[in-house]
Amino acid sequence: AALTHRNTFGVPARASLLAEVADARMLPDVLARDGFAGTTPLLVGGGSNLLFGGDPDVPVLVLTGDAVSVVSEDGTDVVLRAEAGANWHGFVMDTLARGLGGLENLSLIPGTVGAAPIQNIGAYGVEVCERIHAVEAFEPATGAWHRLPAEDCGFGYRDSLFKRQPDRFIVTAVEFLLSRQAQVRVDYAGLGEALAAAGLAAPTPRQVADAVIAIRRSKLPDPAVLGNAGSFFKNPIVPAAQADALCEKYPRLPVFPVAPFPADALAHGEAPHGPRSKLSAAWLIDACGWKGHRRGDAGVADAHALVLVNHGAATGAELLGLARDIAASVQERFGVALEPEPRVVGARW
Ligand code: EPU
Repeated sequence: AALTHRNTFGVPARASLLAEVADARMLPDVLARDGFAGTTPLLVGGGSNLLFGGDPDVPVLVLTGDAVSVVSEDGTDVVLRAEAGANWHGFVMDTLARGLGGLENLSLIPGTVGAAPIQNIGAYGVEVCERIHAVEAFEPATGAWHRLPAEDCGFGYRDSLFKRQPDRFIVTAVEFLLSRQAQVRVDYAGLGEALAAAGLAAPTPRQVADAVIAIRRSKLPDPAVLGNAGSFFKNPIVPAAQADALCEKYPRLPVFPVAPFPADALAHGEAPHGPRSKLSAAWLIDACGWKGHRRGDAGVADAHALVLVNHGAATGAELLGLARDIAASVQERFGVALEPEPRVVGARW
C-alpha cells in the first residue's frame, strides 16, 4: 500500500501490508491475522509527525474510529472522550461548538486525537497534557486494555511514556477535561497582542481559536499545499549556565525557563539535573542562514526556520540529509544539539 498520501511531507513510501481498523475492539483480532501476528506494526494517524526515511519494514495500522461522546458532567466541568481516529482540528472545533473551552490554543494542529498525547502536542502556551483526563490504550504484548490517568502518562515537553516506549501501546481513545467556564490563556508572545489589537480585552475561547488560527496561517505552511510536518526540531533544553553564556554572546536568542526538577521526571527514571533552559531552535537555525534554503525539492520554509518543506518531489532521505546538515551547522556554531521532533521511520536519525 502506498503511504505517500498518509504522511503530510508527501514523501514516497510503501507498506507491505496496511489495515484500517474502525472499531478498536477488533485490534486483538487484527493483530492475530497473517502478516500482523508476531510483528510490531507501525501506527499511522494523520501522518503529520512522521518522516519516512525509507519504507517501514513492518505492517501499518490506521485507526479510523472518530466518535466523540460525553463521559461525565459536573457543574461546569465536562469530560469528553474522542476516539483515536478523530481529526484533531475538527475535534477542537467540535468542543468549541459545544461551548467547551480548554483546547482553543491548540487549534489547527494537523493530525489525529490519538496522536496528540504521544508527543504531547503544544502551542501558544498550552500543552495538551494539561487538558487530558485519561488515555485509553491497548498493549499488544500482554493483550491488556489500559485507561491511564494523565499523571501516569509521563508527559513532558513534546514527550510522553508513549513516545519513550514507541511500540508498547496503541492509543485508542483520549478523555479530555474541558470547561463551560472559559479560562482563556493568552500569555504567549504575539497572541495577547493580536487579541488586544482586535479590541478583544476579554476574549472567548472561540476568539482565541480564531487568533491562533490566523497566527498559524501566517507562519506555518499548510501541509495540503506544501508538504511539511510542522516543527522539525524540538526546542533544545540545555543547562541554564550554557544558556546564560549563549545569551551573553547573542542577546537576541529567545530563552525560556524550564522547571529544574520536573515533578514527574525523577519518578520516570530521569537522572537528577540542575536548572535548565529551553532555547529557540528556530532562532538558532535562522542565525545559521537556513531560512528559505532549498536543495532540490527539500527545503526550509520561507516564513519559519523550524519547518522543513517538500517542494514536490523530495524523498524522505533527502529531507533527512538536509535536517542532518542543519543540525550539524547549529552544533558547530552554537555547541547545541538539535533533536528531530517527528518520528523518523525506515532510517536512523
Ligand atoms: N524565530 C526566529 N526565526 C524563525 C522563526 C522564529 O528567529 O524563522 C524566533 C522568534 O524570535 C520567535 C521564536 O523563535 O519569537 C519562537 O517562534 P514561534 O513562536 O514560532 O515558536 P517555536 O518555538 O518556533 C513552538 C512549537 C510550535 C508551536 C509554536 C507556538 C516546538 C518544537 N514548536 O515553535 O509547534 O506552534 O511554538 O506555540 O516546540 C510543532 O510542534 O510542530 C509546532 C509547529
